[in-house]
Amino acid sequence: MNYPLAPPNDNPAIRDERFQIRVRGLSKSFRGQKVLDGLDLDLERGKINIIIGGSGQGKSVTMKHLMGLVKPDSGHIYVDGVDLVPMSDYQMNKLRSKFGMVFQYAALFDSMTVAENIAFPLIEHTKKTRREIRGIVAAALESVDLPGIEHKYPSELSGGMRKRVGLARAIVMQPEILFYDEPTTGLDPVATKNVDDLIAHVNRTLGVTSVVISHDMASTFRIAHRVGMLWGGRIVDIGTPQELLASRHPRVVEFLEVSGVLGRKETVA
Ligand SMILES: Nc1ncnc2c1ncn2[C@@H]1O[C@H](COP(=O)(O)OP(=O)(O)OP(=O)(O)O)[C@@H](O)[C@H]1O
Ligand SMILES: [Mg+2]
Repeated sequence: MNYPLAPPNDNPAIRDERFQIRVRGLSKSFRGQKVLDGLDLDLERGKINIIIGGSGQGKSVTMKHLMGLVKPDSGHIYVDGVDLVPMSDYQMNKLRSKFGMVFQYAALFDSMTVAENIAFPLIEHTKKTRREIRGIVAAALESVDLPGIEHKYPSELSGGMRKRVGLARAIVMQPEILFYDEPTTGLDPVATKNVDDLIAHVNRTLGVTSVVISHDMASTFRIAHRVGMLWGGRIVDIGTPQELLASRHPRVVEFLEVSGVLGRKETVA
């Protein structure tokens, strides 16, 4: 067989079709401060996987490791069974074609139109014609429910619309895995619900594996298939939203109580 990167790991403990990303023993310190401390994490293929946890607990750092933007001090990150930790920049760039990223502040280029922003990765990384690109951009805008806004500039859009354009840009390369870092931060409840619906819609229609970092417990319990809580440099509990609500881990219970999720449940009961 001819593997473009490195041969997949044949260890049956790692190779499991159910999980597209498997993290083992990930540790990372910054200037002597340990942020990740032997973190293990399995992310389910084709599902919405959400990572929750307090500010500064290392959620963004974890995601940057998964995207190969930060190298760990030790540990392994298997994507489809292949460890990305020892990869060269060249190999990593190839792997990244599987990834789409939606950043916290959408990160659009203000001097470019919406169409130019969305077309950017296609022009950089493919040999598609202008006509093909126009069609792909129009379809991407349709799928984020913003048809026909090609000629607008980011400054003319609301925060929620900018996030949708950021998502449109992320999906034109047909990624297998979509990463979102706090996609609803700074949005009002209605715009938040719209972005949640869109994450669920894109997950369903494109069949991608979605990895979402969230502060927002209402959003998390609305759309997640699987929720993991990061605390003290590790995932202390992970499962379906229902399983997490039933968690007895003191940090999970505390976090859910403070964010009002458990409180509501108890009032109802
Ligand atoms: N490049 C870096 N250099 C030094 N320290 C860093 C770096 N990146 C992250 N850190 C530190 O790692 C810790 C975790 O940061 P991270 O951004 O992952 O937190 P977070 O869980 O995403 O928090 P928030 O919810 O506020 O976004 C913080 O103490 C942060 O200061
Ligand atoms: Mg963060």
